[in-house]
Amino acid sequence: MKKIVVGLAVMLGFCTCTHKPSGTLDVNKALDYCAAQAQRTLTELKTDSGIDYTMMPRNIMADEHHWNCRKATKEEWCAGFWPGVLWYDYEYTQDKHILEEAKKFTNSLEFLSQIPAYDHDLGFLVFCSYGNGYRLTKNPAYKKVILDTADSLSALFNPVVGTMLSWPREVEPRNWPHNTIMDNMINLEMLFWAAKNGGNPYLYDIAVSHADKTMKCHFRPDYTSYHVAVYDTISGNLIKGVTHQGYADSTMWARGQAWAIYGYTVVYRETKDPKYLDFAQKVTDVYLERLPEDKVPYWDFDDPSIPNAPRDASAAAVVASSLLELSTYLPNGTGKRYRDAAVEMLTSLSSDNYQSGKSNPSFLLHSVGHWPAHSEIDASIIYADYYYIEALLRLKRLQEGKNVIK
Ligand code: GLY
Repeated sequence: MKKIVVGLAVMLGFCTCTHKPSGTLDVNKALDYCAAQAQRTLTELKTDSGIDYTMMPRNIMADEHHWNCRKATKEEWCAGFWPGVLWYDYEYTQDKHILEEAKKFTNSLEFLSQIPAYDHDLGFLVFCSYGNGYRLTKNPAYKKVILDTADSLSALFNPVVGTMLSWPREVEPRNWPHNTIMDNMINLEMLFWAAKNGGNPYLYDIAVSHADKTMKCHFRPDYTSYHVAVYDTISGNLIKGVTHQGYADSTMWARGQAWAIYGYTVVYRETKDPKYLDFAQKVTDVYLERLPEDKVPYWDFDDPSIPNAPRDASAAAVVASSLLELSTYLPNGTGKRYRDAAVEMLTSLSSDNYQSGKSNPSFLLHSVGHWPAHSEIDASIIYADYYYIEALLRLKRLQEGKNVIK
């Protein structure tokens, strides 16, 4: 039976990695690999007229070998990840050429700080790019872009509901008067940063309010999350929890849960309120308990076609990165459990089962973007690479006895 199942999955092209992660993870080797793949990408992006710095690598489908790039527009939520990858690559290599390329791709996103918020993805777009850029260069122009963008993002906050509206464009067509998606937790980091770096202190308050309301309404009793919470704008009450990118309204979409784990870890970092530390552990534990052996989740934990469903390496990378941080806030026993789990995830991701290697210039294979829309299934996707290199750098810092967060 197992043979038939594996054969079917191979025919479908999905990863059939059911074994435990093996071997020891060599972090420098994995980071060297990332640096080489990033250089491959830069070489591929170069045409006779040079590089178009407004075109950002987005995905490589399972049957393709080169990046599909998308123009950096307000609608392209992934446009900040490639500049972010280059900043992390520069942090590791200290290569001045990579620094120059990171700056040029980052500059293509400046317009986002000068227009009204299109949707909540501004944190992904601007904090992965300008946030890392400012962290590494202290360029005051970068700081201004982040502060202006945080102000724009705050316009999506609804004080009656207490959260930010994620998708203004979905209010009317779906009759979702105020919709907040779990992914929105990631955008809080930029608000916290802005509040303590010269921005309006109100940004801190709305980030905390968003985290509190999400904690109250966006999870089931077992701490698994809905993708979308729909709220009433008059009462502020939850109308319903539904899905957009998961298998069904009632299921645990892997990347949604990953955003929750990452998000509440950041909220604890920024507030030091133990209720968020406790909550981050609860949303982590339900995720860890249900992982397959190699610690890379199926794209949705409740897809009935498991074990023939595709994995989502992007969720594994997001969770690995956040668990390395979370582990540092906990006493030895629990902290070590999370750190060990993160290392197992990174060991799997760094194996031939998940690294793209020669097949394409991304870092990782086997992510799922939007299954219900039949989009980016079992693909290389830029945000998987971003969180993978972030996690590797965090692990390197931990191994060197340094703080995970600089
Ligand atoms: N923010 C959309 C996603 O995680 O796919």
